[in-house]
Amino acid sequence: MPVTVIVGAQWGDEGKGKVVDLLSRNADLVIRSQGGSNAGHTVVVKGTTYQFHLIPSGILEGTRCVLGNGVVVDPAQLVKEIALLEGMGVDVRSHLLVSDRAHVVMPYHPRFDAAQERARGSRKIGTTNRGIGPAYEDKVRRTGIRMGALLDREQCAKRITELIEDRNRQLERLGDDLVLDAAAERTALLEEAELLRPYIVDTYPLTDEALRKDARIVVEGAQGTMLDIDLGTYPYVTSSSPTAGGACTGTGIPPNRITRVIGIVKAYTTRVGEGPFPTEVSGEIETLLRERGHEYGVTTGRPRRVGWFDGTVARYSAGVNGMTAMVITKTDVLDTLDAVSTAGSYRAGEAVFTYPPSDLGTFASCIPEYETHAGWKRDISSIRSREELPSECREYIAHLEMLVGVPAAAISVGPDREETILDNPSLLWD
Ligand code: IMP
Repeated sequence: MPVTVIVGAQWGDEGKGKVVDLLSRNADLVIRSQGGSNAGHTVVVKGTTYQFHLIPSGILEGTRCVLGNGVVVDPAQLVKEIALLEGMGVDVRSHLLVSDRAHVVMPYHPRFDAAQERARGSRKIGTTNRGIGPAYEDKVRRTGIRMGALLDREQCAKRITELIEDRNRQLERLGDDLVLDAAAERTALLEEAELLRPYIVDTYPLTDEALRKDARIVVEGAQGTMLDIDLGTYPYVTSSSPTAGGACTGTGIPPNRITRVIGIVKAYTTRVGEGPFPTEVSGEIETLLRERGHEYGVTTGRPRRVGWFDGTVARYSAGVNGMTAMVITKTDVLDTLDAVSTAGSYRAGEAVFTYPPSDLGTFASCIPEYETHAGWKRDISSIRSREELPSECREYIAHLEMLVGVPAAAISVGPDREETILDNPSLLWD
């Protein structure tokens, strides 16, 4: 039953793309389970940088890749991404499929996203403005359009026009007076659908067949556990389920077929957008982590908030996802530090928490209980085995394993695919 699920164990941007890329080499099928073009992966292969928003990075390996039913697809963005990758010599056409059950991010969804953020004022979420929340709202309200429906031009042309006209009126009420041109938007959408026609299929038979054949399947979650609509820091979350449960509902793979859940953790923590972040740092360390880690959003270019490794968050992720192993990324970013801190618990008044409290006010008032570790003060990017790491770095990694309660299967020491210590590959694949 070789189904491996990859989840972000923090607030997203843990470097999942690199791990999916690594695992894709040994996979027959890569399926993305949720989210949309709010996600952003950067993968560097032999000095060439590839950026992905929708398409699983497994496409670089020539592995069959699927956008699963739980994804929300912006057709214009997907067309653009396919063209960009094909232009770089990647054969997308032969390898990508899109579930006909996936929902469409309609042209008005990003506008609603922006209007809702404006209306929230100081309580804004800091969304990526890609229309993700409004697209999922429509899905749950049962007024969404699915990718499969776009292929029936006759049926959907009228519905698209009606929806755009209706949403124009709603947007006006929200103070957005930029009226969408229903005819032009409909034409553009139908043209994109035509370009995407070869990719859109019912992906259930393919997934089912892969499961029957015991094919090696990698499920790629976007974002991270703490952004999960149910288990994250609500309301400062995304609108889907980046946790392992979402891997099932977003692909049609049953829970009892999952063999491994690999949680990706950065050797420190980052967060984009608003909401509590107990181990956030400011000043010199903030600048160092952000600049050495290139902590700027792939999708929005926003500087990411940065902080120390939060064992409370990662341990919770290990629990709710059933993590069987973790991959620690960006360890090299800490190379120049004299000392590195980690937090294993929080204190809020008299209470001590070893997991993130569900009440946001309590979570926001949590003070991390830190431990300080000696820095290794050495460039580790050329090291390829755990034994060769400086002893301080080995101790740091062992400490993270102790905090999280799962072993590190691999340690990333640089952005390139090769810059990886594969410490325990049996935890990653058979
Ligand atoms: P949305 O997903 O655009 O609705 O944004 C909701 C929250 O999730 C915001 O705080 C975003 O910054 C965050 N978010 C969405 N996608 C990502 C991601 O891929 N990485 C990190 N944060 C994300």
